[in-house]
Amino acid sequence: MRLQVEPASAALGGRVQPPGDKSVSHRAALFGGLAEGTTRIHGFLEAEDTLATLHAMQALGAEVRRDGGEIEIRGGELRAPETVLDLGNAGTGIRLLAGALAGHRSLIGQRLVLTGDASLQKRPMGRIIRPLARMGAQIEADQGRAPLTVRVSTLHGCEHELEIASAQVKSAILLAGLQADGRTSVIEPGPSRDHTERLLPAFGAQPERFDGGVAVSGPVTLQAAEVTVPGDLSSAAFLVAAALLVPDSAIELGPVGLNPTRDGFLRIVEAMAPGRVQSAIDSQASAGDEPVGTLTVRAPDRLQAIDIPADWVPLAIDEFPIVMAMAAAAEGVTRIRGAAELRVKESDRLAVMAEQLGRLGVRVDEYPDGADVYGGAVNGGVVDAGGDHRIAMSLAVLALVANGPVAIDGAEWIRTSYPGFVDDLAALGARAVWA
Ligand code: S3P
Repeated sequence: MRLQVEPASAALGGRVQPPGDKSVSHRAALFGGLAEGTTRIHGFLEAEDTLATLHAMQALGAEVRRDGGEIEIRGGELRAPETVLDLGNAGTGIRLLAGALAGHRSLIGQRLVLTGDASLQKRPMGRIIRPLARMGAQIEADQGRAPLTVRVSTLHGCEHELEIASAQVKSAILLAGLQADGRTSVIEPGPSRDHTERLLPAFGAQPERFDGGVAVSGPVTLQAAEVTVPGDLSSAAFLVAAALLVPDSAIELGPVGLNPTRDGFLRIVEAMAPGRVQSAIDSQASAGDEPVGTLTVRAPDRLQAIDIPADWVPLAIDEFPIVMAMAAAAEGVTRIRGAAELRVKESDRLAVMAEQLGRLGVRVDEYPDGADVYGGAVNGGVVDAGGDHRIAMSLAVLALVANGPVAIDGAEWIRTSYPGFVDDLAALGARAVWA
């Protein structure tokens, strides 16, 4: 579907509540399905990705009651599903579920197949298959890609040292570790988002954090919990960017999660527009120990280009499409390096953003692990989301400051993580319609 966005003719203003956090929603559904008893989830993200995880838990035997974002899930007694488990576009869903099921004690000896859409079938799964195999997991995949065939087997704990900081890999290993005998530890080259470590204690598991890593000791049976999902900072980022780009805008967003392992975007906007985005932590979510707060955003005269420090990259890993969009309208050249991971997300985000920004007259020099984005005038035109929700939303936001209307083909991918995005943008005063 095509989304037609008009250049903004007035400042954006108002207050919006961004949708529930995608990472936390996946984990809440997954842990709730594994846990004994009835888990209640408030503010669950009702988007294609997270519903795919919820449906997978249902197919595995969990009983689910849904009333909008209010979810009740009765888990604990898993059985082999009748069909393939289809996680759609969700990398978090397939990787965490593969870890959780590889040694699940009630499924030993069963054969399960996990798959996803065409994009997910291109993404690397060797990064979870190799460490899980060291624990005794039996997972087959053609050239390290989904579909994954899991023969559920008895696991033993062991120590893992990861080559890249990845919350999905870390979490898959920890969830396998809950089913394994003994201690499973994960050492990371740098911090990655820690939602799993924060949420597991609510379900009765006690991950042990140490300098540079985290460990669990198994076997552990999770117990039901009550979870309130914070608003998603990664979704809020698109609205933050819109208000920074459109002159004289002033908006408020929240409550949103302000987890310090996800704050790279806030560091980047502070460098591009000093003092223009204020975040105030005002509570902890009721389970998951997630800091939550409000964002207030005021447009600067002009965004400034920056060199993004490589150690901020994992802390802002999902925000690079929107950072590249902001950079396209900033003063100067924004340099991104140490970001090769962007090539194995829902799309090759460096290549797709470079090509689509190019169609709007923006110069982007691509590097194997990053890009230089030359800020300047942005033309109207026709672009394509490349099958990637975050690219669709990034181009829609940039369109607000283009010289003419921008039509975004394939914008229906937005449903993956933020079905209400176009409505929220309109609530702030932007003009965007499905054509
Ligand atoms: C996520 C981890 C990140 C991120 C993804 C969500 C998670 O992936 O890009 O959108 O919920 O654990 P990696 O672990 O591959 O960096």
